[in-house]
Amino acid sequence: MTARLTIRKPDDWHLHVRDGEMLKAVLPFTAAHFGRAILMPNLVPPVRTTADAIAYRERVMAALPKGSTFKPLMTCYLTDETDPDDIERGFRDGVFTAVKLYPAHATTYSSAGVTDYRKIKPVLARMEKIGMRFLMHGEDVDPSVDIFDREARFIEKYLGPWTREFPGLKFVLEHLSSKEGVDFVRAHSPQVAGTITPYHLELTRTDWLGWGLKPYMYVMPVIKTERDRQALRKAATSGEPCYFLGTDSAPHPVAKKLSVNGIPGIFNAPVAMAVYAKVFEEEGALDKLEAFASLNGPRHYGLPPNEETIALEKKPWTVPEEIKIPGPDERALIYRGGETMAWQVVAA
Ligand code: DOR
Ligand code: ZN
Repeated sequence: MTARLTIRKPDDWHLHVRDGEMLKAVLPFTAAHFGRAILMPNLVPPVRTTADAIAYRERVMAALPKGSTFKPLMTCYLTDETDPDDIERGFRDGVFTAVKLYPAHATTYSSAGVTDYRKIKPVLARMEKIGMRFLMHGEDVDPSVDIFDREARFIEKYLGPWTREFPGLKFVLEHLSSKEGVDFVRAHSPQVAGTITPYHLELTRTDWLGWGLKPYMYVMPVIKTERDRQALRKAATSGEPCYFLGTDSAPHPVAKKLSVNGIPGIFNAPVAMAVYAKVFEEEGALDKLEAFASLNGPRHYGLPPNEETIALEKKPWTVPEEIKIPGPDERALIYRGGETMAWQVVAA
């Protein structure tokens, strides 16, 4: 008999869908499996104000397949100049769900990000007051910090002190990548939660660099060691409420991925649920998949879980290599493209 698993419809608490033709090409993959998603604001130019977010949300809604019930959750790109009053207005009007910190130059399209953490304190104080979540690309990009230690240093230097300075503020440390990150989140739950991507659960830096350079495994925060991967797998599959699903699916035109100065991020929305199911099965924890994918996230955000369900079956399928984007030579690679996956979503 085919193994089958029915769970509440998941949400993706960390997603990039971009804009324009790319948005139209990638959004249907997420809308097919997920009820809601936190849409990251690192567009060019970024989603900085309530007005920007209203306009972006309209473009997202227009790109949804007919009849889709998917709900985009909008975020504000924090800068040194973000206005606390605008944030509060956007939150109270139901436009913004959260604020996202990109340290300037930490990752893709982050050059407008925060350069001086003293300047964002009034925004954090306001978010604490109104109950708005603070999402972080948690990496210290001081050039003296080794790239593999960026997450741990960010926690020591910034996040730890902020949890004490703003005890009522709820944080999400996005795309956890290290044992240090996993341990910090557990120790500071429920104030702090963390999202975990499919590829940080699957890969080590040896996979990425050990047998030829695999540009599609280049993401930020970078893939780390087996020790880190083990800590992430234990955390995700533990069922503990502080860990939940965030794919960080991040499509790029293939030429940017394969350039000599390659860009971090990979489109994984089509395979995300298949990868998570594989990992949970390997860890003997399929019974915890629903908590990770569909229950823990809503709880941290103070939202109800989805009423609908999806079904996954163990039925092999081959992942397409890429998707085509209308425009000159625009294609985006798909994570695990060309490989056979055991699990698939069969009903959503
Ligand atoms: O690998 C990544 N890609 N990490 C991020 O933080 C951003 C993302 C993107 O937007 O491409
Ligand atoms: Zn991201």
